[in-house]
This record gives sequence, C-alpha cells and structure tokens, in this order.
Amino acid sequence: MRREDNELICSVGPGTPMGEVFRRYWTPIAVARQVAEVDGAPVRARFAGEAYVLFRDTDGRLGLLDELCPHRGASLVLGRNEECGIRCLYHGWKYDVDGNLLDAPNYGNESFRAKLKAVSYPVREAGGLIWGYFGPAELQPPLPDYGFMDVDEPYRAAERVDFKCNYLQLLEGGLDSSHVGILHADQARPGWHEQAFERNTDDMNPGALAVADNEPELSVETTIFGFHYGAIRKGDNGMQSIRIVPFIMPSARVIPAPVRLATLFEVPLDDENTSTYNVVHSTTQEISQARNRAISGIGETGLYAEESFEWLGSWDNRFGQDRATMATKWTGLRGIVQEDAAMALSMGPIYDRTREHLVPADSAIIHMRSILLNAARNMEAGNEPRPLPSVKKIVGIADTDLPPGKAWQTLVPDHVDELEDRR
Ligand code: FES
Ligand SMILES: [Fe+2]
Repeated sequence: MRREDNELICSVGPGTPMGEVFRRYWTPIAVARQVAEVDGAPVRARFAGEAYVLFRDTDGRLGLLDELCPHRGASLVLGRNEECGIRCLYHGWKYDVDGNLLDAPNYGNESFRAKLKAVSYPVREAGGLIWGYFGPAELQPPLPDYGFMDVDEPYRAAERVDFKCNYLQLLEGGLDSSHVGILHADQARPGWHEQAFERNTDDMNPGALAVADNEPELSVETTIFGFHYGAIRKGDNGMQSIRIVPFIMPSARVIPAPVRLATLFEVPLDDENTSTYNVVHSTTQEISQARNRAISGIGETGLYAEESFEWLGSWDNRFGQDRATMATKWTGLRGIVQEDAAMALSMGPIYDRTREHLVPADSAIIHMRSILLNAARNMEAGNEPRPLPSVKKIVGIADTDLPPGKAWQTLVPDHVDELEDRR
C-alpha cells in the first residue's frame, strides 16, 4: 500500500476525507445500558477525534451535545443531570437535550440566553445500542435497519470493547477468512495438534469450520451496501464448503455461526483508539451472554475492564499469552476476541502498510480498502457516498456444503438485489 493511501484511510479526525466519510453514516456511540437511567451519569462519547456528552434526561429523552460547555469549556460530562437538562458545574449553565440554554446563573440577560445554543446532534436508541449522527443536517440519512434491531433480549446481546489501535487493523481481522482456521485453530480445528480434524459442534461459535482447508478461495462482489464475499473451501466428496461475510459501509460486517449472527462495527474514537461493538442475535435461540463471553474470551481473561470497556491486553502482559499451554493451545491465548486483539494490537497503534506482502487470501481486505479509499477520494472531490439501502436481510452464512459448480451467491438470495450491476 502506498504511504499516502495508508494515511488517507487511517486518519479520521475532523476535516479529514475518511473522517468525513464516517460522519455521513449513523454510528454506534454507546451500548444502551450506559444510559439506561433517567438523570443517570452522563457518558463521555468519543467519535472520530471529537468528544461529546451523552445523557438521558428526566423525561427519558436522550441528549447528545458537544462535550465542552459553550461558556468557557468545562466538560459537561462532569455536570449535574437533573430536571430535564444537564448543568455545567463551573458556572451553572444548563442545557436541554436540544442544546437550548435554560439557565445561566451568572448572567441574567434573557435575550442572550434565548440566543445561545449548545451544539446538539441526532441520537437514537436501537438494537441495544445508542446511535449518533455527526454529519451535515441536510444529508442526515434514516437510521439503518440492521436485522438485530428486530429481535429483543434475550435473543440479542450487545458488547462493547475499546482497543488501543486504529480501526482498520480491527476491521481487516473480520474480513479475513483464512485466519479463522489458523489463528483460531483451537475453535476451528479441534485436534489440530494431533493432525486430526474434528468438527467443533458448538453452533454458537463463529470460529467453527466445517473442513480443514486453510487456503480458501475468495470470491468478492461489490454491492450497494459495500461488498460481500464467499470463502470457498474444499469439502468432503468434492463438495464446496462456503462461508459468506458481507461488509456494510463504513465499517460493519456480519460474522456467521450456525445459529446466530454477530454484527460488528469498528467505530474510530480517534486515529489510535477504536470501539468494537458486537451485537450477537438469533431468531431461534436465546443468546446467553455468559456463553458468548466464553467463546470470545472476554469474560475469563482478566483483560477486560467491564466499567470502562477497555481492553487491557498489551505488551505489559504479553496480551495475555501463556506459553506454557502452547503444546495444545495454538496461541496460548484464550478465546476469539483475545486472539484477534493480540494480532491487531501487536501491529502497533497504526500499522505501516507499505511493509506488508499480500496474497490472494487477502483479496477481501484489498477490496474493502479500495472501497473506503474511493469513498475518501470522492469525498475530497465533493462527491457524497451513496446512501445505505435497507440492510435488514444482509446476512453472513456459516460453513455450508454446496455441490460443485453451484454458485455461492445462491445462499444469499436477498443480497442479489443489492449487486452493483443490478442498479
Ligand atoms: S464553563 Fe460551563 S458554565 Fe461556565
Ligand atoms: Fe478472528
């Protein structure tokens, strides 16, 4: 990758082309449980290099304002949240969810108060997440209609984990079929250390592969929502074993397991910090958060700070690696999230992609980068990204056998309307 392209795609601060692309879409900014209570503690929400205060007022309405008080800049996150507004501690100015200045104890001028407004942003709750929109008001799209928004708990569980690295390193991990059977070998190919392939029968586990083929052929197709790709592995009796993952602009993908889907969003907080939101849902089975956490590894590792959402794996603790277990554990790490986190964080805060050597197994990643780079270049040239279509029926498909010669796209008939050449 050229150095200037790496900078273009990784930089998301205000005024950067990629930052503007991200600001054209609704984005998760919190899990709903962070602002469950009326008049509860305000949340410091960060997105793409800027900070906001998120709060729920006395009437249950959500407010999303610039973090710093318009008077002289104290953080409203420290403020009093009471009687339908947030009050700055410093001089007591109080704002409602729309940013109206309700009270200014150190300046009694009514007309000043009527004119001053804190900057406020559209905010919604849906699917266990809080969503914000930070782009131009006249370009505000409808809230996306993800499939997980149609099911309620306990058929859905939303998690947030904050990682200290650029969003792209995490996003690449979710579009990389060939690492599943290798990095996640303990989940994907139990028995690997005895050179035996047994199938992992945990139907909630996204790392469970149906076959031992570690060199999937990737077939990528551009769509209106982004792209989707089929990873085609050699199955038994000449069958193809197909796994499908869609990428939805600007940074979502749907990772399949046999009985549930995980919709993941990589939300840049700034260039070197990212929140991963992972919403697991099923239409047929309840989602046990404990089991979900055991599969991902975030429950048991001691590397997850529940209150702050921070991932604590770093070189200080070798990302949690226990080398004494490596005769039978491929990574010496525990669980999918811990393994993915160690890989992404070990690259450093922003990986220098001029040094990489790509192979055909990286073709989905190459495609994702070109879509994002095109969006950034179009933005620089004054062209807005195409609005997202309905994404309700966009799914991932866990390893499924198909007879030779049958197209993988037949497994995702609802994606077909979204193909680039159908429009
Ligand atoms: S800085 Fe907030 S009221 Fe003065
Ligand atoms: Fe992974």
